Amino acid sequence: MNLIGIGYMGFETANLDAWRDYGPNVMGFEIAASPTQDEHSLYFKMDDRRHRLAFHPGEIDRVTYIGWEARNRLDFIEAQQILNSHGVEFSVGDDTLCEQRGVKELIRFRDPVGYQHEIFYAQKWTPRSFRSGRPHGGFICDDRGLGHVVLMTPTFTEELETFLIEVMGMQWYGWGAGKGKTQFFRTKLNNQTSHDIAFGHAPGRMGIQHIGVFVDSVRDVGETYDIVLERELDLMMTLGQHSQDPHISFYHFNPSGFAFECIAELEPWQGDPFELNPEKMSTWGHKIVGPIVGPSVRPAAEVYPEIYTDESA
Ligand SMILES: [Fe+2]
Repeated sequence: MNLIGIGYMGFETANLDAWRDYGPNVMGFEIAASPTQDEHSLYFKMDDRRHRLAFHPGEIDRVTYIGWEARNRLDFIEAQQILNSHGVEFSVGDDTLCEQRGVKELIRFRDPVGYQHEIFYAQKWTPRSFRSGRPHGGFICDDRGLGHVVLMTPTFTEELETFLIEVMGMQWYGWGAGKGKTQFFRTKLNNQTSHDIAFGHAPGRMGIQHIGVFVDSVRDVGETYDIVLERELDLMMTLGQHSQDPHISFYHFNPSGFAFECIAELEPWQGDPFELNPEKMSTWGHKIVGPIVGPSVRPAAEVYPEIYTDESA
């Protein structure tokens, strides 16, 4: 599949009011106009797209969809053919849903773990429209997507890897250098960052471990860090630099109880001509000062009762 990256993501949250303050004033997101058919949800712009993140009112905090961007209409059609050829069931988004997402067309399907994915093309876009929620250099999204996501999976099966590589056309990146068991992948068209999605093993549990977003400069990382410290928000990891990526970043918890990794690229990603196996996760910093998974990673039957029961997870 000719996928670019994660175009948008949707969440349910019981903490919408907290996001309304935190999104613009800590992260620098712009509050976007909510679609008329979804006026009680909170939409954030991160660049000139209509939106990148959508928070819908819910009883618990959870990710509800991951929207993968197909390069264009022809690649979108091809993606449907690939799903059909692998016997993967999908539904076609109706006009209302496409308008809500601001896209031409979309399809929906679940991965073997149960997470909901969408593939779309042509999201609404207005050049030079992004106004950050606070003084901020902006986010590097445009032609690569909103960033990367690390999801937790209750079981670790070959089926998931096969699905990501053979159906979704992902490239294998590696295992990561953390202590846990985590597999990293990136889309076929991503040649700018090491990964778009990763799955970490959390027996019996599901949820987001973190989302990495790329900001314009080290200054944006530092200023966000200061605001996080001033507000005494919970940190997961201090400032640091991963061994395998030329990035500086830190991790803190947002109102939904998963972490944001706020990342500045120090130089372009070096590519991966061989599979990296770092001696340690980070060359400096990234001291783990909080839990490595936040409170939104919970028993699968609690987070996704429509998929898991207490017995099945
Ligand atoms: Fe990350």
